[in-house]
Amino acid sequence: MKKPLLILSGCLFAASTFAQENTAKTFWDDPVNHPLASLYVVTALLLVVVILVAFVGIYMVKVLNTLTEQARKVNAEKSGIAYVPLQSWWQRFAQRMNASVPVEQEKNIEMDHSYDGIRELDNHLPPWWKWLFYGTIGWSVVYIIVFHFSASLPLSLEEYQQEVAVAEEQARKLRASQPEATIDENALQYTADAAIIEKGKTVFMNNPCGSCHRNDGGGNTIGPNLTDEYWLHGGDVKNIFNTIKNGVVEKGMPAWGKSMSPQDVRDLTFFVMSLQGTKPADAKAPQGELFKQTPVGADTTATQASL
Ligand code: HEC
Repeated sequence: MKKPLLILSGCLFAASTFAQENTAKTFWDDPVNHPLASLYVVTALLLVVVILVAFVGIYMVKVLNTLTEQARKVNAEKSGIAYVPLQSWWQRFAQRMNASVPVEQEKNIEMDHSYDGIRELDNHLPPWWKWLFYGTIGWSVVYIIVFHFSASLPLSLEEYQQEVAVAEEQARKLRASQPEATIDENALQYTADAAIIEKGKTVFMNNPCGSCHRNDGGGNTIGPNLTDEYWLHGGDVKNIFNTIKNGVVEKGMPAWGKSMSPQDVRDLTFFVMSLQGTKPADAKAPQGELFKQTPVGADTTATQASL
């Protein structure tokens, strides 16, 4: 009964992994509506039945053994022979595996030396230990053949490389399916995209930008004004992207590209650009060079104008 069940659950397992590969959802996302849910329930129930049957079976064999033993005892008494209880196979097995010398016979294997009263017995290694040891020798032979000679299974390094290759392939697919994830800063162009600007604002507020540039971008004693047309490092979208990404570490502007995704830096850049001309109260005096933004949609070949 057990064998077909094993095959059945094996098939189910294979089917479930197959199904998981095809649908992004795994079984545990929604177990009730999973297409194989009923099969899993039936398998689980069958397993419970098998375990119960096994329990009952073992119990019945035990009862049978006790009855036979009783019959043997009665017979022995009838025919006047001394009754010796039969050992179970497990008791015999345990004895064979330990093969220890009984305490009464220890005298026979005592070695003839004594250190401060400590004596030594010349015991054999226990057979269970020896067989484990032989097992490891046998396994090492199998291991060397399988992994090093026939190379039918991959070594750890190969396994790692395969996993990396799979992960890279997945990452490549992911990038391909999300063109946003790759931001080509050289081809970056500003568009007053409200969604991106809003995201940039969130990133700005969730980071300490405001502590050096003020939340409205007006600037304070540390950071320059981001709302005017004067820039220390250029006011073109690429310049601003670069300043935020690489920072001006020696002047106190951190390199945010180390801790942020290119998208976040792009969103921040767009948000900073959207601050142009907002004229917050008590803004910091202009620093750097004048840069006139090219109106959106106009010819973008214009370069930075100098003062
Ligand atoms: C610890 C203070 C500090 C923090 C935090 C900070 N900045 Fe700055 N930032 C500066 C300083 C100082 C400068 C000017 C660097 C210089 O003098 O060259 C600067 C310059 C800039 C510039 C270029 C301005 C120009 O005139 O060219 C931009 C854009 C900018 N920061 C954006 C940000 C953004 C976005 C954040 C948040 C992610 C941020 N900064 C966080 C200190 C800071």
